[in-house]
Amino acid sequence: MSLLDDAKAVRENAHAPYSGFKVGAALRTPSGKVFAGCNVENAAYPEGTCAEAGAIAAMVAAGETEIAEIAVVGDAPAPVSPCGGCRQKIAEFAPPGVRVTMANMQGDTLSLAIEDLLPHAFAKAQMEG
Ligand code: THU
Repeated sequence: MSLLDDAKAVRENAHAPYSGFKVGAALRTPSGKVFAGCNVENAAYPEGTCAEAGAIAAMVAAGETEIAEIAVVGDAPAPVSPCGGCRQKIAEFAPPGVRVTMANMQGDTLSLAIEDLLPHAFAKAQMEG
């Protein structure tokens, strides 16, 4: 099963009664383990969380801190692009060169390196004098 298949599978579990827009994300770490997440919305709208955030939280909770590859999918006319906040969250754990695969349910895909998805990212190095 590809990472994209994992993202599609977890997307089915998304809790998106407000937007109706289900998103799935799956990431692989250098150890080969896969962590998946879906968006979880809330009646108090700003409290909802994105699919990518769920996958990252599962990875960190399992004791891992590096993303080797990540895929995101939703039912959209074009491949689903991680929101700005999720780009920052991915960049926290994804070294330059890591591929972010965006996809829709029709099979369109777009794969970009994290540094092309979030150029000039704010990172820990900028807080070091
Ligand atoms: N969403 C994600 O899960 N990931 C993204 O990168 C884009 C947006 C979710 C948030 C919300 O539940 C729904 O998609 C509509 O914005």
